[in-house]
Amino acid sequence: MSMPLLSARHLVKTYASRRGAFTKPTLVKAVEDVSLSIDKGRTLGIVGESGSGKSTTGRLVLGLEDPTGGRVTFDGAAMPGLKTPEWRGLRRRMQLVYQDPLAALDRRIPIGEQIEEPLEIHEIGTPEERKERVAELMRAVGLRPDQASQYPHELSGGQRQRVVIARAIACGPELLVCDEPVSALDVSIQAQVVNLLRDLQEEHGIAMIFISHDLKVVRNICDRVVVMYLGRVVEEGPSDEIFSKPFHPYTQALVSSVPVPGTSLTDRIILEGEPPNPASRPSGCAFHPRCRFATARCRTENPQLLTVAAEREVACHLLGPAQVPASIAS
Ligand SMILES: Nc1ncnc2c1ncn2[C@@H]1O[C@H](COP(=O)(O)OP(=O)(O)O)[C@@H](O)[C@H]1O
Ligand SMILES: [Mg+2]
Repeated sequence: MSMPLLSARHLVKTYASRRGAFTKPTLVKAVEDVSLSIDKGRTLGIVGESGSGKSTTGRLVLGLEDPTGGRVTFDGAAMPGLKTPEWRGLRRRMQLVYQDPLAALDRRIPIGEQIEEPLEIHEIGTPEERKERVAELMRAVGLRPDQASQYPHELSGGQRQRVVIARAIACGPELLVCDEPVSALDVSIQAQVVNLLRDLQEEHGIAMIFISHDLKVVRNICDRVVVMYLGRVVEEGPSDEIFSKPFHPYTQALVSSVPVPGTSLTDRIILEGEPPNPASRPSGCAFHPRCRFATARCRTENPQLLTVAAEREVACHLLGPAQVPASIAS
């Protein structure tokens, strides 16, 4: 088997959180134990409700934050510490696209210059070659090269995200982490931007980690999916299998809320109870207060992630290796 492009083992990230100015900070585990890997040119989805630790995981795998525990390996080498020269060198090979393009762009600088900036930083090409590359990148993301002199506020939200994407792919990255890249955009243009990302990813063989609470999008573009709940992976597997046959009761609820063309949503499982909040983590399996199948064991013992079928891992006491009960598997 070939080596994965990126692999994360047992990542933990703890933040000190303060409720008021005079209260003592409490420690919040945003990520408790996350392992994942992605092969060159493949797409991995990370799904889960808000607060499940998806964005933190994205920042950790890119080395944008140092983990409290665990380790990340990129192309066979340990992730260098934040802001070291080795880390700066890696910036060229992995990039982040996140939800808010306005926050990612500088309002005072024309977009062409912003797309050119990473090429300058990494000293790629002559000034003339860089101008030509900017025009090429703008065309690749569906912008006109003559828009290079425009400022971010002169563009629509979708066009701004196209600028961010052009800049992210400028240096030919091998990995793109997209954190809710279309959530802030009008629904009418979300599909266009997702299609653009997929086309660029396929054309250039870029590996992509696609973080989203929108399962429809993930189903369309990801080879594999990781489902997170309160800082842990609760299920992992090939995308088509996760969507056609989810094992974990949490995944079942998430998948049941995604409309399938031609069917009604009569089997929708409504998730009741509190959404995930690491400041008040339930005992045992963190999902147990909301689980239809919870038993006494689920309230006290945290289930480990186990292989239950080929390439399928699930963390649920009701699912041991090769013993998926009919009540859950159906
Ligand atoms: N810098 C931070 N300081 C304190 N708490 C944080 C910080 N970043 C994230 N958290 C907390 O960690 C949890 C997971 O956050 P996040 O990774 O953003 O989840 P998601 O992207 O799935 O919504 C949340 O409860 C959030 O409040
Ligand atoms: Mg997030």
